[in-house]
Amino acid sequence: MSNKIIPVITIDGPSGAGKGTIAQMLALELDWNILDSGALYRTLAFFMAEEAISLDQFQEKKKFIKERFKVKFDPGIVGEPVKVIFRDEDITNLVRTEEIAKKTSELAAEPLIRDFIKPCQREFMIEPGLIADGRDMGTVIFRDAKHKIFLTASPKERAKRRQTQLKRQGSEVNMRVLLQELEERDKKDTERKHSPLRPAVDSVIIDTSSLDPKGVIKEIKKNL
Ligand code: C5P
Repeated sequence: MSNKIIPVITIDGPSGAGKGTIAQMLALELDWNILDSGALYRTLAFFMAEEAISLDQFQEKKKFIKERFKVKFDPGIVGEPVKVIFRDEDITNLVRTEEIAKKTSELAAEPLIRDFIKPCQREFMIEPGLIADGRDMGTVIFRDAKHKIFLTASPKERAKRRQTQLKRQGSEVNMRVLLQELEERDKKDTERKHSPLRPAVDSVIIDTSSLDPKGVIKEIKKNL
């Protein structure tokens, strides 16, 4: 077995802080693998809904789920979301809905679910390197990562970005509702007992509210 250390850059932060775009740009530029851990949780929520598996049944169906839970990511092209491939099918638009986001946030608070997802996430750490996007990439999953970035932005700005993204996917969502849902999800993610959303002590925190993606990349590069 090779002892080669695989470089990892973690990008954590709340929804709409720009993690997806920045992770995608870095993965494309460096030609590294990408892990969109939020999409991994979303795919699990989607799969459980599809198979009508409730949280109470998760333990007993774990083997069945594990055998079928094969997710791949394709960074795609800048301006479009990172592609989520599940069972050889592109399910990107099916998992990037507000309905799935809500279900996901509830599921992701469960230790049983987090324990299941943990090894799945580490499987993405393959050569030449990994860009890991999520909430607990730097604090829990890739604690040894050399570079840890925490992106943040004001709730209003994040809701605005999310609205633009949803519009592109063809969904119209009311800004007030979106902001409220985002704040509820933030609260759940930051206040949960297991792996709450917070910056790793050794992370670089960047407020992206008034930066464009290129500006964020520039800030990150200053710290690499
Ligand atoms: O980033 P995204 O909006 O796709 O994440 C969906 C949800 O998945 C988040 O609101 C959060 O509850 C959960 N999540 C998590 N840990 C991660 C990534 C996402 O708990 N590493």
